[in-house]
Amino acid sequence: MRRAPAGGSGGASIGASPPRREAREKVTGSARYTADVALPGLAHVAVVPAEMIHGRVTGVHPEDALARPGVLAVLHAANCPRLNGTDGADLAVLQSRSVVHRGQFVAAVVAETPRIAHEAARTVRVDYAPGPHRLSPDTPGDGFHRPPDHGPFFPTDCSHGDVEYALSHAPVRIEATYTTPLYHHHALEPHGTVAYWHDGALTVFDTTQGPSGTRDILARLFGISPDQVRVIARHVGGGFGSKAAPRAHLVLAAVAALVVGRPVRTALTREQLSVVAGYRPPTVQRVRLGAEADGRLLAVSHVSFEQTSLTSDHCEYPAAPTRTMYAAPNRETRHWRTRLNVPSPTWMRAPGECPGMFALESAMDELAVACSVDPVELRLRNDTANDPHSGRPFSTRNLAACLRLGAERFGWADRDRLRAERGDGRRLVGMGVAASTIPQYRFPSRASARTDDLDRYTVRIAAVDIGTGARTVLAQIAADTLRVDVERVTVEVGDSAHPAASWAGRSSGTTSWGTAVVRACEGLRSAIGRCGGRVPDGGLEATADTLDELATPRTHSQHAFGAQFAEVTVDTSTREIRVPRMLGVFAVGRVINPVTVRSQLVGGMVMGLSMALCEVGVIDRTYGHFHTRDLAAYHVATFADAPGIEAICIDEEDFHTSPTGSKGVGEIGIVGTAAAIANAVHHATGHRIRGLPLDVRALMEAAEPGNGT
Ligand code: MOS
Repeated sequence: MRRAPAGGSGGASIGASPPRREAREKVTGSARYTADVALPGLAHVAVVPAEMIHGRVTGVHPEDALARPGVLAVLHAANCPRLNGTDGADLAVLQSRSVVHRGQFVAAVVAETPRIAHEAARTVRVDYAPGPHRLSPDTPGDGFHRPPDHGPFFPTDCSHGDVEYALSHAPVRIEATYTTPLYHHHALEPHGTVAYWHDGALTVFDTTQGPSGTRDILARLFGISPDQVRVIARHVGGGFGSKAAPRAHLVLAAVAALVVGRPVRTALTREQLSVVAGYRPPTVQRVRLGAEADGRLLAVSHVSFEQTSLTSDHCEYPAAPTRTMYAAPNRETRHWRTRLNVPSPTWMRAPGECPGMFALESAMDELAVACSVDPVELRLRNDTANDPHSGRPFSTRNLAACLRLGAERFGWADRDRLRAERGDGRRLVGMGVAASTIPQYRFPSRASARTDDLDRYTVRIAAVDIGTGARTVLAQIAADTLRVDVERVTVEVGDSAHPAASWAGRSSGTTSWGTAVVRACEGLRSAIGRCGGRVPDGGLEATADTLDELATPRTHSQHAFGAQFAEVTVDTSTREIRVPRMLGVFAVGRVINPVTVRSQLVGGMVMGLSMALCEVGVIDRTYGHFHTRDLAAYHVATFADAPGIEAICIDEEDFHTSPTGSKGVGEIGIVGTAAAIANAVHHATGHRIRGLPLDVRALMEAAEPGNGT
C-alpha cells in the first residue's frame, strides 16, 4: 500500500523498493550493451600492443596485414590523425613513437570482422629501440617523491600537533607496516566503444561511468564543440572506477572511424583490460599509533608508499581516511609515490579508503590487543563528534551506533566462548571487527523534468546506470518530489544529449543527480502551479542546474560510516580460511531503495572478502607484463566463497549531503571488510597477517617462529 501524504496523490516511493526498471531486459538478455550495438557497415579494431617496456618504435610494417582481404587500414604513429592537446598522455593514442609500458597500443588494424582484425594484427611487425626501464623500486624509499601538494579533492599530506613527541611518550605504541597488492577491477562487461562520424559530428556508444565528461574530453581531443559529440551508455555492466575516465580504446575507436569513414567498434578482450582499464596500485603503509593504557589515542601516523606510471598522476591516498576516523590530538598522514614503466593505475572502488582502512583498522586491532581492550570498545573510546581534521562537526557520524548494533546482532559479546565452542581439532574459529568510512561528495549536475498532461512525467539527466539501479532510484526521487506515483515517471539516463551530469563515481551519483532531479521536479511543480494546475499546449518543462547551490562552502564534515563484523574458520591442516558469516552495519543516510542499497553494500562486502582472501595482481618484474590477465589467474571470490553476507542500515537522515537525506552507498561496503577478516584470523590463530591476501602462504609464513604475532 502506498501512503499518500496530505495534499498529494503519491509521495511514498522513497523507502520502497520498486523493481529495477531494466530488470526484465537484463534477465532476459535483451538489454543492449555497448559491444552489442550493431550498425550498418560496422568495422572492427584490433590493437597491436608494445612488445617492449620502454623506448621508441622505430618502424611499423603493415604490409602483410594490409594485403589480407577485409583489412581496411593499419593505424600507427606515423599515419594516425593528430589529436589536440591531450587530456593525459594515456589518451594520446598513436600520437608518438614513445613507449612507456609493455602493452601500450603501438598500432591498430581496422577490418571488416573482429577475426580478420585480430589475425591481421598479429602480422604487424614493429621495430623497437628499447631504453632502460624501471619496474620496481630497487630499495624501499628509492625513487619515491611527494605527489603534488593537493590531490583533486584534498591536500596530499597533513600534520597536526607533535606526532613524534607524542609517540615517544605514549604508554602504548603500535608500529607496523601493512601491504596490499595490485587489484584489477574486472567489471563483468569488458570495455568497448562503437564510434561513428556524421557531418563532422561524433557519436560514440561507450562503456562509461560519465557520458558528459567523456563527451567533453572527446570534444577537446578532436577540436570540436561538445555539441558535436554525443556519448551514449544505455547499459553499463559495472565499472568500479575503471570506466570513470575515458580510456585509450575509446579514442582509438573514434580516430579509426574518422580514418575509414565508417562506424567502428573497439571491443577489448578481458586479457587486454589489465593494461588499458587501470588498476588499484599496490601499497606499502606504515602506521604508528600511540595511546594511553586504556586505548585512548594520543598520536596517529599513517604514511603510504605507492606507484604510478610515467603518464599518470594518479595517487591512491590510503592515509586520507585516517584524518577523520579517530580523535587523536596528534596526527600525520603522508603519501609518497614512485614512477615506474607500468600501465597507469586509476580509481578503484573506494580509492584510498579501501587499502587505507585495511592498514588503520588492522593497527587498531593490534592496539586493542596491546591494551587488552575489546576492539569494539576501543573504537567507541576514540569516537569523535567533530572531524579531527577540519574541526567541523560531522553532518552525521553514527559510527558508534553501527558498532553497537553490529556487536549485538553478530553475537560479539560471546566471541571468545564461540571461538572455544565452535573450534574443534581441525578448525580454528575467530571473529573480527573493523570500521568503515567513505567521504561524501556531491558534484554539480543538471536535469530536466517535463509533463504534457499531468499524467506522465519524464525526467532526463546524463547520468548513467552502471548496474546500481540509478534509473529506478532517480524515478523514486522524482516521484516523491512531484508527489505522484513512481509508475508515472519515466527516467532517461545514459546519453550526453540529456542535461549534463556528473559521473557515477566516488559514491556520488545518487546525491549529485538526485539533487538536480529534485530541483528540476520542484521547478516543474512550481510551473504547474503558476499555470493554475493545468498544462498548456506544448507541455511544461523545467530544468535545474545545481552549480550555484553546491558552490556554498560546507559547514559540516560529510562522511558515511559503518562497522564490519566477520567470522572466520581456519583449517589447521590445509590452512584454508573461510568466512561463513559477515555482517555490515552502515550509517548511510536515508535509504532510498532498500533492495538496491543492500545490493551495493553486500556487493562491496563480497569485493572486500575477495580482496582479503583471493585477489592479487602481479606484474612480471622482468618483462613488465601482467601475469594475472584473466579470471583463471586472477582469482575473485565467487558465490560459494561468500555464503553468509548481510548488510543493514541504521536509521539516519543527512540533509547536508542531499535533499533526500541520503548518502552514497557505492563504495563503503568494500571499506574495512579485509581488516575485519584479518582481525578475525588473528582472533582465531593468534597470527597477525599484515599483507594481503590472507592466503595459505601468508598463514604458513606467519606460523614460522618469530613472525606475525
Ligand atoms: Mo569510483 S572508484 O570513484 O567509480
